[in-house]
Amino acid sequence: VSGGRTVPRRALGKAYRFLRHSVVNDYLLYPIGVRRHRGLERSAPRSDTHCYTCFHRSPGQLSVLNGPVVGHLSPGAPPAELSVNVLACSNGAEAYTVASELRRRFPESVIRVVASDLHRQNIDIAVEGWYRPDTVDPRGETPDEFIAATFEAHGDGYRVRAEIREMVEFSVASITDPLEEIFEPADVVLVQNVLFHLPPDRQEGAFRRAASILKPRSALFVDGMSLDMKVRLTAELGLSPVSFLYRPVYAHARRHVPQPWFNYYYGAEPFWPFARDRVRRYSTVFLRGA
Ligand SMILES: C[S@@+](CC[C@H](N)C(=O)[O-])C[C@H]1O[C@@H](n2cnc3c(N)ncnc32)[C@H](O)[C@@H]1O
Repeated sequence: VSGGRTVPRRALGKAYRFLRHSVVNDYLLYPIGVRRHRGLERSAPRSDTHCYTCFHRSPGQLSVLNGPVVGHLSPGAPPAELSVNVLACSNGAEAYTVASELRRRFPESVIRVVASDLHRQNIDIAVEGWYRPDTVDPRGETPDEFIAATFEAHGDGYRVRAEIREMVEFSVASITDPLEEIFEPADVVLVQNVLFHLPPDRQEGAFRRAASILKPRSALFVDGMSLDMKVRLTAELGLSPVSFLYRPVYAHARRHVPQPWFNYYYGAEPFWPFARDRVRRYSTVFLRGA
């Protein structure tokens, strides 16, 4: 009897939440939401300690890296060498993920990853390379083969395998530093989920600096920044958006965005099918020299 009552109530609750979040917040309120969010981007106080990261955070982006990006860097054959620069690397999860995936896919290539973050305590964790099980696999979604290739059991947690730790060099740096004086140009630069923590003028400066360490033929991974600014600057700098998987990758990254998204400066609008420059607006991977 109680099942008979709760199931329809639950279903109604689900339908209500879907209507409120997806239909109302994402579609009906989209134009108002965008205006409100632009205001927040201009004036909201920012935090430089806010962090969400995890291993294998974006499986779709890894497919873009292993497919179109490596194909662009080294058409027709695996690359002999690959250099990757991970800015705002947090506890090292993103840098080790990229190192491990590239090593697994391109075992003959010489791969070097340089990674940095603003906070010394993050870099200390990254260099140590030891993580608790709930950091390695917080949602039960980290693939077993990735875990096996990347970690070995160590105490009551996991340590990144020595051969992968050796591929990555960590240091303390801010994306507002003159990056072109600190880092060598790289084949792949990642600057993800950090630019939106800077006000617009500093955000633009940091984006330009990140782009300045791209080699003439290279790829930029950028998520978590003003979409209007991304459209303007990537076009100005001649960076071509990658359309492969761009929509599911964008949707997947929004799983961490609070509802309603327009009340948070780090919120990201839903995919809007009528947006001009859709691929450039929502893609998170851009090619230089394409
Ligand atoms: C949300 S985490 C992103 C981690 C990783 N890039 C990812 O996308 O999974 C944001 C990181 O940016 C770092 N950060 C904040 N301001 C920074 C700055 N000005 N320069 C470099 N790193 C910064 C924080 O310490 C934090 O580790």
